[in-house]
Amino acid sequence: MTELKGALIGCGFFAVNQMHAWKDVDGAQIIAICDRDPERLKIVGDQFGIERRYSDAAALFADGGFDFVDIATTVQSHRALVEMAAAHKIPAICQKPFAKTLSDAKAMVRACADAGIPLMVHENFRWQTPIQAVKTVLQSGAIGEPFWGRFSFRSGYDVFSGQPYLAEGERFIIEDLGIHTLDIARFILGDVKTLTARTKRVNPKIKGEDVATIMLDHQNGATSIVDVSYATKLGTEPFPETLIEIDGTLGTIRLSQGYRLEVNSAEGTTVSNASPKLLSWASRPWHNIQESVLAIQQHWADRLTAGGETSTSGADNLKTFALVEAAYDSAAHGRTVDIEAMLR
Ligand SMILES: NC(=O)c1ccc[n+]([C@@H]2O[C@H](COP(=O)([O-])OP(=O)(O)OC[C@H]3O[C@@H](n4cnc5c(N)ncnc54)[C@H](O)[C@@H]3O)[C@@H](O)[C@H]2O)c1
Repeated sequence: MTELKGALIGCGFFAVNQMHAWKDVDGAQIIAICDRDPERLKIVGDQFGIERRYSDAAALFADGGFDFVDIATTVQSHRALVEMAAAHKIPAICQKPFAKTLSDAKAMVRACADAGIPLMVHENFRWQTPIQAVKTVLQSGAIGEPFWGRFSFRSGYDVFSGQPYLAEGERFIIEDLGIHTLDIARFILGDVKTLTARTKRVNPKIKGEDVATIMLDHQNGATSIVDVSYATKLGTEPFPETLIEIDGTLGTIRLSQGYRLEVNSAEGTTVSNASPKLLSWASRPWHNIQESVLAIQQHWADRLTAGGETSTSGADNLKTFALVEAAYDSAAHGRTVDIEAMLR
């Protein structure tokens, strides 16, 4: 099998995880990198031994010689870079948040479809080992039909030191973190009909909201709560664990802190450990996320080689992104938002 060649744009905080993961992916490697900040370009280029370095994405695409691009910049540049990839017919991965607005995200999906290239959003949370474990139990039928769920991420972790831009935006927790939790809710309980949300800003030093409570009506009739907070001070800090509760007609699933997975079914109660692996380059507490970065990038390489849509394709991610926009709309206007109408 010939190895796929990739180029990575945006050599910042999170891209280091993506670069480490590419080294572990079977069937793909990064052969060129790009960042408009010369310091980041040098740090990442030297660390991973990449000779081809660009400060301008247009020059990278003009030189070509790669099979896909991994866009790891922040949201402001996503639309322009995805459209550049489409113009050069280069398959693209784009970091979350996919776009600034739903209409931008729709335009990006259309541009890639028109160019006939695959587009995947780097929505890695559903690839976490504990999340996959919950999905596997649900699919086994052990708890019957799910009718209620809770997807919870409550933390007091200082995310602002690694990502200072998070303190500066008008929007914070739903756009940055809730987007992952909403995607997990869709992954586990399916697509959403309507959404109602409430938000708060507790930390006076940041601009956006740091607490959100969101109620989802799923198409299968289940109701779920997505609750996220960066203002929650606990005895044992759970960052970056997503805790899950699912009630079904025949039993329940509880994913609790410390990756403890409890399943109650007609067969009785089983408790297992759904901990992620600590990869050689990973560090706690990020190892759960780091393992999912490898999993999603391996999935991309496999799909690009064998064909077929990725789990978090651009088209799929529109349905998660719509929930983000709807949550801000609902919280601002105190109303319930029709998701199906937004996606028409
Ligand atoms: N999935 C996750 O778990 C996770 C975690 C953290 C961050 N992220 C996402 O990753 C993205 C990047 O976040 P970060 O914290 O690494 O940001 P960052 O600011 O540290 O890095 C972004 C880099 O992109 C470069 N850049 C921006 N626009 C560019 C352009 N047009 N051309 C070339 N280079 C450009 C910047 O110079 C910077 O070095 C964000 O969208 C963030 O939401 C995801």
